[in-house]
Amino acid sequence: MKATVEYVCQNCGARAPKQLGRCPVCGEWGTYEEEVTERVAGSKLIRSTFSNPPQRLHEVTATAETRLNMHNGEFNRVLGGGLVPGSLVLLGGEPGIGKSTLALQVLMQMGSKKTLYASGEESVNQLKLRAERLAGNPENLYIVSETSLEKILSYVSEMKPEVVVIDSIQTIGTESVESTIGSLTQVRECAAMLLKYAKENNVPFLIVGHITKEGSLAGPKVLEHIVDTVLQFEGDPQHMYRILRAQKNRFGSTSELGIFEMRNDGLREVSNPSELLLSNNQEGLSGIAIAAAVEGLRPFLIEVQALVSSAAYGTPQRSSTGFDLRRLNMLLAVLEKRVGFKLLQKDVFLNIAGGLRVNDPAIDLAVMAAVLSSNTDIALDNDICLAGEVGLAGEIRPVSRLDQRIREAEKLGFKKIIVPAGQQLAVQPQGIQIIPVRKVAEAFRTLIQK
Ligand code: TYD
Ligand code: MG
Repeated sequence: MKATVEYVCQNCGARAPKQLGRCPVCGEWGTYEEEVTERVAGSKLIRSTFSNPPQRLHEVTATAETRLNMHNGEFNRVLGGGLVPGSLVLLGGEPGIGKSTLALQVLMQMGSKKTLYASGEESVNQLKLRAERLAGNPENLYIVSETSLEKILSYVSEMKPEVVVIDSIQTIGTESVESTIGSLTQVRECAAMLLKYAKENNVPFLIVGHITKEGSLAGPKVLEHIVDTVLQFEGDPQHMYRILRAQKNRFGSTSELGIFEMRNDGLREVSNPSELLLSNNQEGLSGIAIAAAVEGLRPFLIEVQALVSSAAYGTPQRSSTGFDLRRLNMLLAVLEKRVGFKLLQKDVFLNIAGGLRVNDPAIDLAVMAAVLSSNTDIALDNDICLAGEVGLAGEIRPVSRLDQRIREAEKLGFKKIIVPAGQQLAVQPQGIQIIPVRKVAEAFRTLIQK
């Protein structure tokens, strides 16, 4: 038995013979930890050992991937139409966001299909208590509390379940390396063993992985390369909405996303997000604007809220929830320079309702409209919504999928939509007035002329 001491970056897996403060590969600080790796005599470390000889491309007959229906619309959608047998899916997210709940619930919805939930974190009793909160009628769901990967795989070989959940990769370990559970070496080795097992036996694994805000904790980056699909479960734990995004998908697109609502009885699929995200500004409050946004491939309307007030102390505060703060600062600078707003002595708070994080640049215009509305204390009409990216010169830039945005707004009963000028539409909608604008100032005139 040969023991080696190495220092391994817990973020990216780079190795060094001595402790380093900053990783020269990924640039993270303080991620190097000592790892003593003992290779157990006789046990082979698993690398790629597929024994299929190379074949001529034109002799290979490709069949479409068969997929396992997960009986959960949002989950199926993000996977690209179901789970591919033999694939490894990593379900990542911060602690407490609902990964275990999602994984258990998905298995509970599989009905009579035989499934296995292996948890290294919770006892069978805890799993049962959680399951009692969730809907579903699993006839063939097996649970086990186990941290040894070898044991889990032997159960899988005996039982032959159709789907296996491992919760979580950081709490299970293999005997083939003698490094502590949760260390990068363990995580990588376990993932490699799971990969080999999954491909050879055509069993899909759903692997839960904790990722902290800084993205540290044993090797998410390393895992991303090994697995077929990386799903990120995110949201604000204080709010009820959760978004499931595909960050990598060998069997589907990465632009799909699933939306869930965390309730007392588990995660509910949200198939029509707009209706939930709009708070129906009946009272005519100022500081609210509605954006026709697209996240992934899905159009939905979201409410942008802004509060502009005189700065109580010397330095004005700018804070943003759900929207990039740097982008907010840029939009505020455009307001100062191009529209003549005096915001230097003002605090600006911005919030996307529902605790969602939106990356779509087309909500720029709604962000500016919300700031305008709060600053002038004039409420915007509640039947108008906006879509447009704003450039540094205050020009409104074209947005993707404009037709879809308009259709969604019309469907939800909006009467007017402000859009970038000059964008061609496939169909001219009937029930909604389209107001094309070139400049921010033009949009503002439309918004506050009554
Ligand atoms: P959990 O799945 O344990 O999160 P993770 O595995 O990502 O760490 O769920 C965390 C939170 O979800 C917990 O605070 C309780 C809440 N929750 C509900 O609101 N409703 C439910 O039905 C369940 C099971 C949990
Ligand atoms: Mg958990």
